[in-house]
Amino acid sequence: MVSFREPPPRPFLKWVGGKRQLIPELLQAVEAAGPFRHYHEPFLGGGALFFALARSGQLETRSYLSDANKNLIRAYLGVRDEVEVVINLLEQYKKRHDEAFFYQTRARSPRTLAKQAARVIYLNRTCYNGLYRENSKGQFNAPFGRYKNPKICDAENLRAVAQTLHEADIAVRDFTSVLDITRAGDLVYFDPPYNPVSKTADFTAYFRGGFEADAQQNLADVCAELASRGVKVMVSNSMTAFTRDLYGHKDFHVHEVKAYRLVNSRADKRGKISEALITSFPMRLDDRPRINGRAVSPAATPRKRREVRSKGVINRTAAPRGVERIRAKQWLMKNKYEDVAALIDEVMDEWRAEGKNTRRNWWEILAGDAKGNPRKVAGRVFPVLRAAQLRQGVPVTPGAICRDPKEKVPPAYGTAR
Ligand SMILES: C[S@@+](CC[C@H](N)C(=O)[O-])C[C@H]1O[C@@H](n2cnc3c(N)ncnc32)[C@H](O)[C@@H]1O
Repeated sequence: MVSFREPPPRPFLKWVGGKRQLIPELLQAVEAAGPFRHYHEPFLGGGALFFALARSGQLETRSYLSDANKNLIRAYLGVRDEVEVVINLLEQYKKRHDEAFFYQTRARSPRTLAKQAARVIYLNRTCYNGLYRENSKGQFNAPFGRYKNPKICDAENLRAVAQTLHEADIAVRDFTSVLDITRAGDLVYFDPPYNPVSKTADFTAYFRGGFEADAQQNLADVCAELASRGVKVMVSNSMTAFTRDLYGHKDFHVHEVKAYRLVNSRADKRGKISEALITSFPMRLDDRPRINGRAVSPAATPRKRREVRSKGVINRTAAPRGVERIRAKQWLMKNKYEDVAALIDEVMDEWRAEGKNTRRNWWEILAGDAKGNPRKVAGRVFPVLRAAQLRQGVPVTPGAICRDPKEKVPPAYGTAR
């Protein structure tokens, strides 16, 4: 059984196509799959579902984690096997961090595992948009991101991650290798590069990695083969006619889920889009309130009702309809607070996965504390002081953060979920 000290492990890399937002739905699918032997994630990326399962204590046996990206897997191995050296290196990088150091580090190809891991984590934390992307030659190519105070070394989380990964088999592998290492009763979650929604969609960026239509077909064949052997299969993909063609047959169930995706460079074109969650077992996604990720009926016993109230459970049907959230988030993105928006997502995904109430007034939180310091929530700092202070009519202190010189005061208070 994987056990961990506080704090619980969170993904230590932000990856293109990360699944943090869909964790509640993915956990429902895992629940519907029933007990499983080993967990496999062959398109690992940031490993959002793996860490969510580890946090909720559901990984009782060895997990098999892999990805075709060598730099990514070296980062996982470095954190698992040499976490203190990685932390030490990141502390040094933090002191040296500026644009010139970023480009120097980007150009380097270190040889040791710890240095390779520290390089990937450093670039991921400091590059534009905070996303580790590679070109077709496997070279990291994102430019410098102008963050005031990026969190380059989250030592506590890295230690928690190392402890969780201790139990895992981690390797560079093509996804097809799951055919050789799975047995009946295992659970596999495939989160491949998505098949594009349209020819112009930014999703096509994945395709430079070479995951074309024939690879999608190959994946669907692998899934069918695994399902026929009694392996429990879950797949994420875009909701397109092609996806329905690939999985819309008797072996699979195609469910629609919604995710807020920042896939369009124009802020006003961003929003919730439909994605597909495919399972080899039947399940029904529901909106019932949840305690610790498990659904409870609103008409349950009085004791359960009290529990729902006292644990502050999400009641999705009663939750505010995304408008305020999108306004808050769009404002953050427009004014170069991508990292703050990502932190909010991270904290809220954790809360949702734990079944906690996420009806928080994020402007209150962003405004900082009564003394004018950035607010710390769940161990993370939310520093959007200047605009929030101006909006509240509080004088702007010299330390108040402003990332965009043209930054306008955000809209009136709203509950951003
Ligand atoms: C959508 S991302 C996975 C995101 C991840 N689930 C998360 O939560 O961050 C897809 C991953 O598939 C990997 N990949 C692409 N082609 C692959 C292949 N043929 N075999 C294994 N992994 C592959 C990419 O390197 C990338 O990390």
